[in-house]
Amino acid sequence: MSTAISPTAYNYKVVRQFAIMTVVWGILGMGLGVFIASQLVWPELNFGLPWTSFGRLRPLHTNLVIFAFGGCALFATSYYVVQRTCQTRLISDSLAAFTFWGWQAVIVGAIVTLPLGYTTTKEYAELEWPLAILLAIVWVTYGLVFFGTITKRKTKHIYVGNWFYGAFIVVTAMLHIVNHASLPVSFFKSYSAYSGATDAMIQWWYGHNAVGFFLTTGFLGMMYYFVPKQAERPIYSYRLSIVHFWALITLYIWAGPHHLHYTALPDWAQSLGMAMSIILLAPSWGGMINGMMTLSGAWHKLRTDPILRFLVVSLAFYGMSTFEGPMMAIKTVNSLSHYTDWTIGHVHAGALGWVAMISIGAIYHMIPKLFGRAQMHSIGLINTHFWLATIGTVLYIASMWVNGITQGLMWRAINDDGTLTYSFVEALQASHPGFIVRALGGAFFATGMLFMAYNVFRTVRASNPAEAEAAEQIVVVGAH
Ligand code: HEM
Ligand code: HEM
Repeated sequence: MSTAISPTAYNYKVVRQFAIMTVVWGILGMGLGVFIASQLVWPELNFGLPWTSFGRLRPLHTNLVIFAFGGCALFATSYYVVQRTCQTRLISDSLAAFTFWGWQAVIVGAIVTLPLGYTTTKEYAELEWPLAILLAIVWVTYGLVFFGTITKRKTKHIYVGNWFYGAFIVVTAMLHIVNHASLPVSFFKSYSAYSGATDAMIQWWYGHNAVGFFLTTGFLGMMYYFVPKQAERPIYSYRLSIVHFWALITLYIWAGPHHLHYTALPDWAQSLGMAMSIILLAPSWGGMINGMMTLSGAWHKLRTDPILRFLVVSLAFYGMSTFEGPMMAIKTVNSLSHYTDWTIGHVHAGALGWVAMISIGAIYHMIPKLFGRAQMHSIGLINTHFWLATIGTVLYIASMWVNGITQGLMWRAINDDGTLTYSFVEALQASHPGFIVRALGGAFFATGMLFMAYNVFRTVRASNPAEAEAAEQIVVVGAH
């Protein structure tokens, strides 16, 4: 029999803080996504100002959705999962609080510096050196809190979800520190320590593994805890989860060159990246199937439980984007897809369909427990959110597929005499309807986030400490 321990022994404060900020940054980051998507429909929205131009707001969007929204969701869930599965409190409340405030400071720094035009110009690593150093310090502290908590666990076993979170923390630290090696020339300007093709390779080793470890491995940690919990079923195959873990982390790290096909990177490196990307399909789908099959015997719950729907649909989009990715990594396919909206569609199939949906499901699962409520204020509103998010994602990715393939084909079309059939502007005009549909899809998704904020607000407002205590007693009684 496992030991029942009172949940009051856990540090839920930092989890609550990160969970609430996930919703706040989600609204801001996705709202900004809708804004930049609208700029592509109506260029007047650039307002002729440098600070509000697409070129400066786009990296702010990516930083806010990946690091602020996704990052806070990862901090919140990892701190929640590591405590519950290790049956112990975080090793240090003050270090955990430092990670919360430090992380918010980095985000505020991004909000100030990126629109002002301070940037390293490396995608997803735009923050200049003072902020990059702060980020590195916060991240190493995060590692200390996470692994320190694991070392004082009361369980013999380390649950597989923690392996995924652990790999995500270690590899993110490694990528960030190596890719940010640079020479500062002033407080706001630095130059990369690498040059030429080496710089490009290190940047995309970073960039691809930001996808592989930040946007995938961390969220798989989430999947391994919240899917079985919400479905009230054990994970389908524990053995598969271990194979999944080792195969995924061994393969992902080699796939970066698929971002540099047909560039100055040596051809063998491009082909190696392509081969590794194709092999990656296997562990990706292994994990997806493991998550899906966990619902065996619980499929009927999808009819009544919109939180479970978020989690399962996120896995479906994960399966879809990890099928599409290896395909796009094939050089001949990439020669069509690269530079086009197809890539943007692929990104958001992963970002909205997988990353955002699984985070939203996990937050809906945690909020009542963190605030001592039996359930969210309104299940109906979660359901509305689910449909807005699903329809929004489908509109986004379908329009980008159409745009991407149209652009790719128009750019490569040539006349008999070797001249281009279409000018760039003609391809842009053909993309306009797709841009409108994408902005609409984004607006659907972002509106869903507003419903979520209202639902969370009502749930939190209704919480009272006495009821929270009572709910905790119930958890203790049932904690075998
Ligand atoms: C087996 C898994 C995957 C493979 C092999 C893969 C492969 C690819 C390929 C070939 C590209 C296009 C590179 C280019 O032409 O520039 C790409 C872009 C991208 N993918 Fe994936 N992908 C996978 C899964 C995912 C997932 C799950 C996500 C998101 C959560 C994601 C996020 C991205 C992002 C953000 C980019 C754009 C990078 C950039 O150019 O800025 N990918 N991926
Ligand atoms: C309401 C939801 C969203 C909308 C409307 C939106 C819109 C956009 C737009 C218009 C772009 C620029 C595309 C271009 O340059 O042609 C973009 C880029 C990007 N967005 Fe979003 N976005 C949303 C949500 C998200 C989320 C939740 C994530 C991540 C978790 C995300 C990650 C990215 C990334 C990584 C890129 C850069 C892609 C690349 O360089 O290939 N977005 N987004």
